[in-house]
Amino acid sequence: MRFYKVTDYKEMSRKAANIISAQIILKPDCVLGLATGSTPIGIYQQLIEWYKKGDLDFHEVRTVNLDEYKGISSDNPQSYRYFMNQNLFNHINIAQEHTFLPDGMAKDSEAECTRFNDVIQLLGGVDLQLLGLGHNGHIAFNEPDEAFGKGTHCVALTESTIDANSRLFREGELVPSHAYTMGIRSIMLAKKILLVVSGKDKAEILYKAMTGPIIPTIPASILQMHPDITVVTDADAAALLDDKLFAQTDK
Ligand code: GLP
Repeated sequence: MRFYKVTDYKEMSRKAANIISAQIILKPDCVLGLATGSTPIGIYQQLIEWYKKGDLDFHEVRTVNLDEYKGISSDNPQSYRYFMNQNLFNHINIAQEHTFLPDGMAKDSEAECTRFNDVIQLLGGVDLQLLGLGHNGHIAFNEPDEAFGKGTHCVALTESTIDANSRLFREGELVPSHAYTMGIRSIMLAKKILLVVSGKDKAEILYKAMTGPIIPTIPASILQMHPDITVVTDADAAALLDDKLFAQTDK
């Protein structure tokens, strides 16, 4: 595991965007695994800025997203498809047909999970998977459980996740209770993983996930087993981690 501790959210976004850029420059037709949530927004803004300056080219890149709410259509502002279009895809030279997410409106959930697994496989797997961290240790929508989830599956979200996500919905709007998510196996099969974590409220779960036992009740703890993972965290989120872990500390 490679750890980078940087001062704040802005620096975390810059460092992570640098790593993603390096991937695109080294392999222009790479498959990027992308994430939603508030943490990656700064990364996407930085990538857009570098694209506009002419430093990045996305025309051969393919993307797969980790998850999508069930029962929400792609034109709903709360859908992860909408989020990705607004925060990244609409601002760079990537064709929509090169971007893949589970279809929240699919009639047959099982068939949709199979389709999404097949998409990942047909693309040749994910070269670099970007991940955020949920407050209860979830990655994508793999919630704490008795066992690690495998391929793409449909999950019931925990109350804490629904609560955390409700801040992104308008008052009175129903927060979806179910979602499609890549499984732990799909995530672990990515050739490289980039985990980004920001904020004091994530310090305890980051510490547990990175240094504690590998258990399905803390899904992110499995990342300790990945052969090529880089963790970029701001100082607040890194507060409980030992300084020896860090390859580079920007003070
Ligand atoms: C959601 C997403 C996750 C994300 C998590 C943390 O549940 N499905 O992929 O990592 O939220 O979000 P945030 O970055 O807003 O804290």
